[in-house]
Amino acid sequence: MKILMVCLGNICRSPLAEGILKHKAKETGLNWMVDSAGTNNYHIGEAPHKLSQKVAKLNGIDICNQKARRFVKEDFDRYDKIYAMADDVLDDIRMIAKEKYDASKVELFLNELHPGKNASVPDPWYGEEPGFHEVYKIIDEACESIISKYANVKISK
Ligand code: 4NP
Repeated sequence: MKILMVCLGNICRSPLAEGILKHKAKETGLNWMVDSAGTNNYHIGEAPHKLSQKVAKLNGIDICNQKARRFVKEDFDRYDKIYAMADDVLDDIRMIAKEKYDASKVELFLNELHPGKNASVPDPWYGEEPGFHEVYKIIDEACESIISKYANVKISK
């Protein structure tokens, strides 16, 4: 499985989703490739937001070596599954991918946790540290659902 996590800036939400899913896949013995990207170009080349790095580290996950990159239409050739962190991100993905857009590969990330609800991961960018902790928890739960769904394994805590 090759999975791409996508948000707007690729510095707050999708780096956490990448780090958490990679960690859980490895723990479960799954040889998955997990990456992340953003639909805007404001933070290309930057490391994840300091508070995303902090909450990840507090949970034993190191994301400091990630670097933001922009989502490109060719990502549809490279990945089996593309998760959008929010509905505006999904709109951007559609716009960027144009003729390469493949609805069968794209899903709103939180539909893995709450099927059919079409909920978005809140954007912590404009808020304070508690928002990052809240987002970590939501992303962690959704990643666990993804592992259970595709690997048919429940991680014991
Ligand atoms: P992210 O958060 O999409 O979770 O990385 C954002 C980061 C930066 C901006 C927006 C959202 N920005 O507008 O710069």
